[in-house]
Amino acid sequence: MTRASQANGENVSTPAEEPVIAQKGPYKVELLATYRYAWCACGLSKWQPFCDGSHTSKPGFKPKVWIQEKDQTAFLCGCKHSAKFPFCDGTHKKL
Ligand code: FES
Ligand code: FES
Repeated sequence: MTRASQANGENVSTPAEEPVIAQKGPYKVELLATYRYAWCACGLSKWQPFCDGSHTSKPGFKPKVWIQEKDQTAFLCGCKHSAKFPFCDGTHKKL
């Protein structure tokens, strides 16, 4: 099992910590151009697949934040183990 944050080359302060699997499959969402999104990396958010601030209780995790460039239907990772987060890359099938 590969942590998404490690696969992305980020330094994680607590490497033993695993993200919580919010759902073993992606969330289909409609992303809107110019909006700012924050994908939950820790898995604790009650507002999946987006961050609700719950990561403050899980050291080493922070959301992936981006400004959406175009309107797009997307499948955002729910298992929190995708190497291509915030998007699903199929890793959930191996969990
Ligand atoms: Fe995480 Fe597909 S839901 S890789
Ligand atoms: Fe999970 Fe913010 S609640 S990253």
